[in-house]
Amino acid sequence: MRQAHFTSQLLLATAILYACLAPASCVYESVILNFLNEFRMRMCHPIPNLGLPALDPLQLGPAEAAVNNKYLVDFTGSIDDFKLQGLSDFDVPTLTLRPVIGLTSTMNITFPLTHFESLYTAKGSLAYILNLAGDGNAEASITDFSIRISFRMRSLSPLGISNLQIALHLGDLKINFENLLEEERVNEFIHALVNEMGVELLGDVWDYGQGTVVSKVQTAVNHFLGQFTLSDIISIITGGGNGEESAPIFEGVEPDCKLEASTKN
Ligand SMILES: *[C@@H]1O[C@H](CO)[C@@H](O)[C@H](O)[C@H]1NC(C)=O
Repeated sequence: MRQAHFTSQLLLATAILYACLAPASCVYESVILNFLNEFRMRMCHPIPNLGLPALDPLQLGPAEAAVNNKYLVDFTGSIDDFKLQGLSDFDVPTLTLRPVIGLTSTMNITFPLTHFESLYTAKGSLAYILNLAGDGNAEASITDFSIRISFRMRSLSPLGISNLQIALHLGDLKINFENLLEEERVNEFIHALVNEMGVELLGDVWDYGQGTVVSKVQTAVNHFLGQFTLSDIISIITGGGNGEESAPIFEGVEPDCKLEASTKN
């Protein structure tokens, strides 16, 4: 349930980005960058008009999950006091938008450092070989994560995209999950493996799985965007007006999340 809710929020955020593809109403890149900056300065607060919770820090839990695949994974897990920091430190080194049917648009978002801590439990087994005995603190940090998205506009009314491509880059990954595996030596081995090799392992998993993921994402995005024309989405982002102000969408949310950072510079 929670998951579905979250997905729809992400899709809405995506739609808002596409909103600026409107030739008449946006000065493309600069409007988006400006929007993102306004957004960044408010990410420590919930943003009711976007249906978003506070994103930096992002706090979740308690929440539970269970997977019971009789072949490989038998798993029940939970998190509590989950806290993710760093999402609002994103940069946008590349943003090229071409709101013309058939031309390619590209965006690269990087997160210099994100870090989470949580209380967690993870019980079960992997392939009946490794017994999970997880219970305690979990933490992980990710350095230089970036995502590069490119796509073409397939239609403007209703909105649709094609040729979606998603590339991920991960600088470094460090995890520490207390007591994750029953056998202490295996636990140390797995941690060492992930901390040494995690970047390459994830790269391989992504290379292996991305075909399916990307086509599912594209279908979901098109399904969602297909309900709108550009002008619908423009009125979402501008709150009905056509002025420069992105105020209506952020109505009532103070832009005070980055004060410390901006006085430091
Ligand atoms: C995004 O841009 C940064 C800075 O130019 C680059 O280091 C990174 O590799 C790019 N990410 C991807 C996934 O291409």
